[in-house]
Amino acid sequence: MEERLQKIMANAGVASRRKCEQYILEGKVQVNGETVETLGIKANPRKDIITVNGRPINKLAQADKIVVALHKPKGVITSMSDPEGRKTVKDFIKGIKTRVYPIGRLDYDTEGLLLFTNDGELANRLTHPRHHVGKIYWATVKGVPHGDALEKLKHGIMLEDGMTQPAEVEYHDVDLEKNEATISIIIYEGRNRQVRRMFEAIGHKVIRLRRIQFGNITLHGLARGKHRLLTKSEINELKQSIKTISGDK
Ligand code: URA
Repeated sequence: MEERLQKIMANAGVASRRKCEQYILEGKVQVNGETVETLGIKANPRKDIITVNGRPINKLAQADKIVVALHKPKGVITSMSDPEGRKTVKDFIKGIKTRVYPIGRLDYDTEGLLLFTNDGELANRLTHPRHHVGKIYWATVKGVPHGDALEKLKHGIMLEDGMTQPAEVEYHDVDLEKNEATISIIIYEGRNRQVRRMFEAIGHKVIRLRRIQFGNITLHGLARGKHRLLTKSEINELKQSIKTISGDK
């Protein structure tokens, strides 16, 4: 089946889709020996020979697939570079010499578990809502939301970009003195500022947001600002969680 070149390249683990588009525009990519210079070209990954600077993409992607878990502090952007010179997540994974990319993103002010990989296909599958991989957040909000309000989040709530999918929501901690509550919420999508917007929609401002789990991977034992490589068996379990829930291969 024909697919866009940048998608094939990213799926093969060459780089992120955006980076692959850049390679194409820079004239570094060839299909069957012909240099491609525009976006939108399609190819068949089974039949066509795709190379970057003359090296077949399957060779480029032969680097071992790794997944890195970072405990992202707040006040850090999820990007591998920042023209404005702000702290980026890359500053926290300097020890990793393989080129990896974040799987989804956390807002500047969100803390917690952020995964990185050099496996484009795995990244796509982990972030696509169809694959139903749960992400658990602890959202500390101003005020104590009523049970009815949490029910709305459970069933799905209308945001400006459409209804959210059902979420699992429960009280984690309530501090009546401070008039704050921490709610545990599991979502299966990754829309921009989704958790913050969901709570805004029920009238509660999020004052602290932490992601404590992604699929089967938890923050457990990982200090703020630290990272670690997932073991092969953790990666397999992560893949398994995609397959089991979605029935996908
Ligand atoms: N939802 C948000 O609102 N922010 C994040 O960083 C992640 C999920």
